[in-house]
Amino acid sequence: ATMSTEAELIHMFKGIPFTTRSSPELLKSLDTFDAREDDVLLVSYPKSGTHWLAGVITKLYNTQVTLTSPIEFGDISKLEELNKLSSKRIIPTHLDYNMLPPNFKNKKCKMIYISRNPKDTAVSMYHYYRDNPNLPTVETWTAFFDLFLKGDVVCGSWFDHFLSWEEHENEKNILFLFYEDMKKDLPKIVNEISLFLGLKISDSDIQDICKKSSFSQMKSDTEKENSDPSHTVCALTSNRKLIFRKGAVGDWKNHFTPKQNRRFEEIFNEKMKLSKM
Ligand code: A3P
Repeated sequence: ATMSTEAELIHMFKGIPFTTRSSPELLKSLDTFDAREDDVLLVSYPKSGTHWLAGVITKLYNTQVTLTSPIEFGDISKLEELNKLSSKRIIPTHLDYNMLPPNFKNKKCKMIYISRNPKDTAVSMYHYYRDNPNLPTVETWTAFFDLFLKGDVVCGSWFDHFLSWEEHENEKNILFLFYEDMKKDLPKIVNEISLFLGLKISDSDIQDICKKSSFSQMKSDTEKENSDPSHTVCALTSNRKLIFRKGAVGDWKNHFTPKQNRRFEEIFNEKMKLSKM
């Protein structure tokens, strides 16, 4: 059963597993995408805090902005749809750097990359796989752990994704953020984001934004909303409610065996040899 589910839900594009919610035609046409100079890209590997960051960013603007669905989500009509938007666009994506439409790079659009301890990312993604009908069935944490380390999961290897973006960390139009830093001192990061985006925000507005962006507030807002629950910034789900699970740092300790932890660290050290992380 696992095999057929996998075959129905996943297809490969340039060596990376995508769900069928990203059509091959759309993926092929991304290279022709027309970026605008004032587009803001919100980039992440899945389960790194994308929705949290999107919640913060949309609250920073007092002009009209549109948070679109991920650029790689949908069919060929997607590009046309994004073209039609007249307001400023905040565009999420899980694409790695190499697959990003070149126009965003040429026009030096602002990009914010959020990442998270890959151990917590793996655990979060495991639960997402279990709860999300758009993703293949995984029977156990042990099985998922192996798939994650092999990069045999949607969006491919965490390591490759991170490294492809880290290489561009010092470019002025790219801001690197960590989930753990947002947990530690959200007002500080919100301030950093607003400076990066060239927005003037008062301290009291920052306090207010942080309050509205807490895990419990965002979770209960989502449960209450009867507007479009499918409007997520993640191409992998049709249910926004699946996003708000635990929102903690260090949940990996409740899942990893000591042996898995050693294996993870070995692979991490090997793959991340050239990384500053
Ligand atoms: P967990 O599964 O560990 O709880 P993404 O938005 O990239 O899919 O990431 C989802 C992860 O971010 C989930 O992690 C989710 O709980 C967490 N998250 C979402 N909103 C949050 C918030 N306001 N504060 C802290 N964590 C949040």
